[in-house]
Amino acid sequence: MLEVAILSGTVYGTAEEVARHAEQLLRDAGLEARHLPRIEPEALLALDPQALLVVTATTGAGETPDALQSLLDEIVASQPDWRGRPLAVIGLGDTAYGEDFCAAALQAHMRLLALGMRDLQSQLQLDASETVTPEEDAEPWLARLAERLLAVR
Ligand SMILES: Cc1cc2nc3c(=O)[nH]c(=O)nc-3n(C[C@H](O)[C@H](O)[C@H](O)COP(=O)(O)O)c2cc1C
Repeated sequence: MLEVAILSGTVYGTAEEVARHAEQLLRDAGLEARHLPRIEPEALLALDPQALLVVTATTGAGETPDALQSLLDEIVASQPDWRGRPLAVIGLGDTAYGEDFCAAALQAHMRLLALGMRDLQSQLQLDASETVTPEEDAEPWLARLAERLLAVR
């Protein structure tokens, strides 16, 4: 079965909650999904995930939360052969930050696409100025993602 690794980048915990919810919904849909909130680069490379879902907040002025930043730095540096593997990204941000809105999610998305991963659907961006229920807001997008992942399994 297709193994979907879910990575999260958070400061205050919201992205982790969304990632946990995503893990549950993808499992309910029949996928083997695993949220790996604190995984080390070597462990992720050894896991060799068949598909990746990244859920990340943006912090500072357009910055990626520290742990996810170092994880992605090391993954990109080791250039794993993840070509063609499905990728999807959820960004949590706030439009009050203007041009930096969801900058971390956009950057993570670009870096993983540059490894040759395959974009499964357009990035979901959850705006903290608009919603206080990001988990529920992500549900229709996650349902579409589950269908697509099941189709490539
Ligand atoms: C200090 C700080 C800086 C932030 N910087 C940005 C930013 O540059 N761009 C953005 O889209 N959102 C920004 N945000 C909004 C957060 O990304 C958003 O509230 C998100 O839901 C937080 O998720 P978390 O609870 O997982 O950390 C910032 C929030 C804080 C508190």
